[in-house]
Amino acid sequence: MNSLPKSKNKTCNIPCLTKKNKRELIKLANENKFKIDEKLKLADYKFQLLLKYANKVKFSYSNIKSREYLEKIIPCFPEPMLFLGWAKYTENYNKICEMVSVDINKKVNPDITTDITKVDFVEKVKQRHKSYKSIINNGTIGWGINDPKQINNALQNCKKVLANDGVMLLGWNVKAYEGHSEDTTITIPMMKKYLKNAGFKNIKLIYNAKDEWKQIYIICTNK
Ligand SMILES: C[S@@+](CC[C@H](N)C(=O)[O-])C[C@H]1O[C@@H](n2cnc3c(N)ncnc32)[C@H](O)[C@@H]1O
Repeated sequence: MNSLPKSKNKTCNIPCLTKKNKRELIKLANENKFKIDEKLKLADYKFQLLLKYANKVKFSYSNIKSREYLEKIIPCFPEPMLFLGWAKYTENYNKICEMVSVDINKKVNPDITTDITKVDFVEKVKQRHKSYKSIINNGTIGWGINDPKQINNALQNCKKVLANDGVMLLGWNVKAYEGHSEDTTITIPMMKKYLKNAGFKNIKLIYNAKDEWKQIYIICTNK
């Protein structure tokens, strides 16, 4: 992650590539003088284009496989995008694509400082966009949003700001919370139940890392 561009260097934002057809992608590649085999299937072409952009901003994927995965798929989600939980190591993510970042801790310099579990969150994030086509909600549950009531409130608030045709990516670690000796593990069925209870639909597991972090990603839709 150290080789990510410095925050001053805003020379390239990777545009959101979702919903772009092959012709539009080829146009982007040509504008940027990227050489990509035009015979590739749409999904493969899109991925190659993403890698070319990544190269252009000297973006380097982290060494943790699950994070590398996250960093590769973020630009595939539609905008406006809301990114929950901001950190030193995510500070360049807004160069991968346009996003509005949120954190409870103003010291990490999010676009919006607010508590995701509180009503205030809904009001504040709606001031930027009436609704969001995607929410990237990774690592907040288990890293501050810990007890069932907080989890329910946070997920319900996410649903309130997600567009009707919006999608949320939810990531967490299937292990006891950091620093907790009791078993606080939220299993995959437990998280699916939380999401179902909050009203999310099409809840699908898309990534299950069998490494020390036990990172899981689920996607789900509003309707
Ligand atoms: C492990 S980091 C995850 C950062 C990032 N989302 C990622 O993909 O790695 C957890 C972040 O969530 C924030 N957080 C925890 N509880 C929160 C809450 N109730 N509201 C907003 N942010 C919260 C913490 O301040 C911390 O910066």
